[in-house]
Amino acid sequence: MNHKPLRIALTKGRLEKDTVKLLESLGYDCTSVHEKGRKLILPIPDGNLEVVLAKAADVITYVEHGVCDMGVVGKDTLMEMNGKLFELVNLGFGKCKFALATKKDYPFYDGFGVKTIASKYPNVTKAFFEQKHMDVDIIKIEGSVELAPLLGLADGIVDIVETGTTLKENGLEVVEDVAQISARLIVNTVSLKMRQKEIEDLVKKIEEKINYDKAD
Ligand code: PRP
Repeated sequence: MNHKPLRIALTKGRLEKDTVKLLESLGYDCTSVHEKGRKLILPIPDGNLEVVLAKAADVITYVEHGVCDMGVVGKDTLMEMNGKLFELVNLGFGKCKFALATKKDYPFYDGFGVKTIASKYPNVTKAFFEQKHMDVDIIKIEGSVELAPLLGLADGIVDIVETGTTLKENGLEVVEDVAQISARLIVNTVSLKMRQKEIEDLVKKIEEKINYDKAD
């Protein structure tokens, strides 16, 4: 038995809150996370767990390097980073989708000219259009991607759509869904070997608790 706590990196923000709710529903005392202040590493002593709070892409980096045993991160970031990681569980929360969107009634698929796509997710965008054998120019945007077609920089965007409100309020619409997204529990492959029993026990508890209505 390894007495070092299992270290689990959570994506700061909504996924962090949903994961804490899940851990609490399993009986773990997450007071340290609720009272974290500006602290980034929080102990959950009754579960021999340690929670690390990080940005999505960094959750993957820490788990890939093995300094965190497990992580909770959106499928969006996993698809974009294309990491060599084990996805153990589709946690079902953090549901949204990647979609191709344009200005309303924009004839995106008309004509033969190469279209320009703005996205925070250039790798996801590239893979989507490659699979359609369609040549596009991709421009990387850091946020509020909806601006790009409105300002005339791009013909369309590949972005996250959750409620659809941002698209609607900016006169844009979905042309095509690209992929469904939800939070995933990832694990470092060495940790999985070295601490198999502890990880499997936690995963089993999580799987028993979560709702299985998840789409890949
Ligand atoms: C995300 C996404 C959309 C919006 C979608 O942006 O990029 O802009 O949320 O949500 P909705 O369908 O519920 O309106 P986020 O708020 O993360 O900010 P960002 O655009 O600056 O990345």
